[in-house]
Amino acid sequence: MSDPKIVKLLDESSNRSSELPLISGTLGPACIDIGTLYKDTGHFTYDPGYGSTASTKSAITYIDGDQGVLLYRGYPIEQLATNSSFLEVAYLLLNGELPKPAEFAAFEHDVSHHTMLHESLKNFFQGFHHDAHPMAMLAAAVASLSAFYHDDLSVDDPADRKLAAIRLIAKMPTIAAACYRYSVGWPLRYPRNNLEYVDRFLHMMFEVPSEPLQMNPVAAKALDLLFILHADHEQNASTSTVRLVGSTGANPYASIAAGITALWGPAHGGANEAVLKQLEEIGTPDNVESAILRAKDKNDSFRLMGFGHRVYKNFDPRAKIIREMCHKVLAELGVNDPLLDVAMKLEEAALKDDYFVERKLYPNVDFYSGIIYKALGIPTEMFTVMFAIARTAGWIAHWIEQHETPGSRIGRPRQIYTGSDVRDYMPTARR
Ligand code: ACO
Repeated sequence: MSDPKIVKLLDESSNRSSELPLISGTLGPACIDIGTLYKDTGHFTYDPGYGSTASTKSAITYIDGDQGVLLYRGYPIEQLATNSSFLEVAYLLLNGELPKPAEFAAFEHDVSHHTMLHESLKNFFQGFHHDAHPMAMLAAAVASLSAFYHDDLSVDDPADRKLAAIRLIAKMPTIAAACYRYSVGWPLRYPRNNLEYVDRFLHMMFEVPSEPLQMNPVAAKALDLLFILHADHEQNASTSTVRLVGSTGANPYASIAAGITALWGPAHGGANEAVLKQLEEIGTPDNVESAILRAKDKNDSFRLMGFGHRVYKNFDPRAKIIREMCHKVLAELGVNDPLLDVAMKLEEAALKDDYFVERKLYPNVDFYSGIIYKALGIPTEMFTVMFAIARTAGWIAHWIEQHETPGSRIGRPRQIYTGSDVRDYMPTARR
């Protein structure tokens, strides 16, 4: 992997220099290895938001933000979206290869047989206020898995790591559905292991004891697609959080719970909820123009939710796929949602507005996912929970990769200190 080329850096103030090797991956730009910079020159680097900094080597996901490319283990997202299933994608992310039939059957069996929650964990939900946000409940419930599976778990044992991955992928939908059912006052449902992953989740969400659930198969298909598109996205904020927590040796449940809390923010996974709330606020296509004007006004903190991306500066390939699915779901489920008219007008207006074009602000995956979730009857507060179910596959794949990488170190960034210079303590009476 190491490229013989080097970048020479001369610090003219001290006349100290450093020869920094370039490291190339399989795809993407080469990186300057600054590991010896401090030793050679006495300087740190400064990159708030990590716009130019690779935090790790990883073989899981590749993004080319300029070309709108997203690959999971080398496979283009478009091909996986058309041909694969979420569970197969989860296997791929974890294991690096698509499964042979017997491997997939074993994986599906394992995931199906770890879907139940400990009965004591179910009691946790009773402790939440009735209107607790489901993301708060999800983060707490996943962190609490540490209390059930911590003692006999060694993060250094590959078999234990694999078991933790299976448990998390299996239990996440059960916990997510429990969050929803508690909030609406329905009895929690046990998972039906004869159903496939997404169907099982939809039954846990919506089936009531008094009557069987009739689900349109298009709902499961759409949800499976959304889960595939959200399964991983290399070193985004929540995955980096999982890795940072994981770098301390923390157990996988604590690490993933931290990822969930990072995902919750509106600049990240919380954007899908924010998109829908914003579309509702805009209300009708006639108000789109004034929303665009507000988004462009530098004295107004208002931003168009679901537009822009730190990495995709051309088009989010997931948004392209999901846009098509969005129309299909609304047509097949017979949903005539006026919010879609607002969304389409907003998309059209932003795509031809100089402000958005110049800054390369295109609709991202969250712009359309909220509309699909709404059409499936999933409440707005649950949108980011849906994202978390899918992203668990990526988070745990990264956590495992981190533990499989020899020489991994605790994550510990530096800073530029801007506080007071050294000063002496002043007794209270003399201040
Ligand atoms: N609406 C209006 N203006 C915007 C928007 C937006 N949604 N996004 C960025 N801008 C403007 C900024 O004001 C800035 O303008 P300036 O150059 O005149 O100062 C310029 O575009 C660059 O913006 P940054 O904030 O520097 O871009 P960054 O890459 O740091 O942020 C982010 C990316 C957080 C996604 C941002 O575009 C945003 O807040 N979008 C809305 C929230 C959203 O949809 N988040 C979901 C991300 S996808 C995901 O997590 C799955």
